[in-house]
Amino acid sequence: MEPSAGKLSFLRNVVVRLLLFGLFIVIVRFAYVITLAGESCTIGDFCFFSPSLNLAVPGTRSAALAVRAAASSGSAAVPERYASKDWINGVRFYSSYFQDLIAGGFLSPAAKSLCVETPTGRDVLGLREIGVTDAVGISRKASRPLVMSGEGTRIPFANGTFDFVFAGEGALERSPLPAEFAAEIARTLKPEGFAAFHVKANDTYSFNSFVDLFNFCCNVVKINDVIGFDSSMSHVREIVVKKERYGIYSHSNSISNGKCSVPEYKRKLVRNAEALIEEEPLKPWITLKKNVKNIRYLSSMVDISFKDRYVYVDVGARSYGSSIASWFRKQYPKQNKTFHVYAIEADKTFHQEYGLKKGVTLLPYAAWVRNESLVFEINHGPGEKVQGKGRGMGRIQPMQSSGGFDGVEVEKIPGFDFADWLKNTVSKNDFVVMKMDVEGTEFDLIPRLFETGAICLVDEIFLECHYNRWQRCCPGQRSPKYEKTYDQCLQLFTSLRQSGVLVHQWF
Ligand SMILES: *[C@@H]1O[C@H](CO)[C@@H](O)[C@H](O)[C@H]1NC(C)=O
Ligand SMILES: *[C@@H]1O[C@H](CO)[C@@H](O)[C@H](O)[C@H]1NC(C)=O
Ligand SMILES: *[C@@H]1O[C@H](CO)[C@@H](O)[C@H](O)[C@H]1NC(C)=O
Ligand SMILES: *[C@@H]1O[C@H](CO)[C@@H](O)[C@H](O)[C@H]1NC(C)=O
Repeated sequence: MEPSAGKLSFLRNVVVRLLLFGLFIVIVRFAYVITLAGESCTIGDFCFFSPSLNLAVPGTRSAALAVRAAASSGSAAVPERYASKDWINGVRFYSSYFQDLIAGGFLSPAAKSLCVETPTGRDVLGLREIGVTDAVGISRKASRPLVMSGEGTRIPFANGTFDFVFAGEGALERSPLPAEFAAEIARTLKPEGFAAFHVKANDTYSFNSFVDLFNFCCNVVKINDVIGFDSSMSHVREIVVKKERYGIYSHSNSISNGKCSVPEYKRKLVRNAEALIEEEPLKPWITLKKNVKNIRYLSSMVDISFKDRYVYVDVGARSYGSSIASWFRKQYPKQNKTFHVYAIEADKTFHQEYGLKKGVTLLPYAAWVRNESLVFEINHGPGEKVQGKGRGMGRIQPMQSSGGFDGVEVEKIPGFDFADWLKNTVSKNDFVVMKMDVEGTEFDLIPRLFETGAICLVDEIFLECHYNRWQRCCPGQRSPKYEKTYDQCLQLFTSLRQSGVLVHQWF
């Protein structure tokens, strides 16, 4: 019996030592997490087993990789998240998506990779799962071990760091500064590196905006529509761009030489716009006002993401409340974008109130076809106070022809070359909406916009055309204020639309 008793105590010894060793490891690990990693170690996240076990995504190729990745960096993430359906579906979706990119030659397992604005890091894990191990994510709020802190518009990496950058879940279109976002991706990408985007917008207008946004660095090399993995993005458009080694110098749509033609995809939109009113209205003050309800706004037909800036130009703005506040701010569909407003108004009466308005630039001049002084009539509606609300800017004329204004109060004002200003102020990467109500001067300004090519910078125009309309006050009498006829106005609208400009009849 001696030998067997010795064997037993030996075994007991081994078991006790193993247990002690196990306990030792746990304590050391705990101490490490608390002291060195500086993160609290909750019961649910016992730093050793839970996150790693839950990270294993059923059905993906190498869950072990994820386990090691997570365990080795002492994750403080809430483990339940890794077990959720959302998480698992997302990681699966991205794994299979990135596998396709590898097959297509846009990504390699050795690629140093970045996922931008990824709050959860599912895409990062998706990359690691298929063997792209050198992958990390950035998001405003870090979520270790997969995601560190950083923003798309300020990527915390040096120039030319990555072979592959991914921006999923509509991150680019959600960004308030898509141009900065694009510039940062181009900056951190190595020459001939690839960037892939998942966006919601899938219309032609937004695709062209996207192409223009990356025009400075990159070419689109792949575009594909796929089904997404959750309801927030049921349709996903994937776009892959390649950073060109020597940059891109062609600016085929440049208008610096004056001429431009509206591209076909914009012409198509014009065909979807509301019909023009062909018959001269007998009660224009009703018909034209009602017509506003029929307007098909550009931003209700297409996605306006991927633009550099969003700009509203109100030519003949009058008081802040008259169209900027009451219509543009309230009714124009802005898709959550912040617009900068340029108010062009020569009448001094209205200037003071613009002083305090945020996001509004007042140009206290008259929009004209060149830089020169003008005179304009001051309209006094019948029975209205001279300095009151009814005061509006009347017809403007160059100084030399001011002789025709017998008996009408006139004022001298500076006029400026509006088309020239527009070309210096906005670019074709901006989204530009314009309202024009200039008391007949539209017959000078619109042709000038065509001549200079500035018309191609405007996405949508709301134009009030001034003609000898039937008057409300005096049945059977036309307004003596304007010489043009309704037909001439209709011609102006028709020619604008035929040239591909989305113009609406304003009142
Ligand atoms: C990084 O790239 C940006 C833009 O491409 C450039 O302006 C900057 O000078 C570069 N910085 C360095 C350190 O090369
Ligand atoms: C574009 O997206 C909409 C919904 O956002 C969807 O109904 C439509 O089928 C998509 N078109 C394509 C070509 O995927
Ligand atoms: C609009 O922006 C606000 C704040 O930036 C955000 O909370 C909201 O969800 C956005 N709405 C849409 C439709 O994108
Ligand atoms: C008109 O005047 C503005 C402001 O002084 C100036 O910037 C612009 O170049 C002038 N335009 C032309 C065509 O002379």
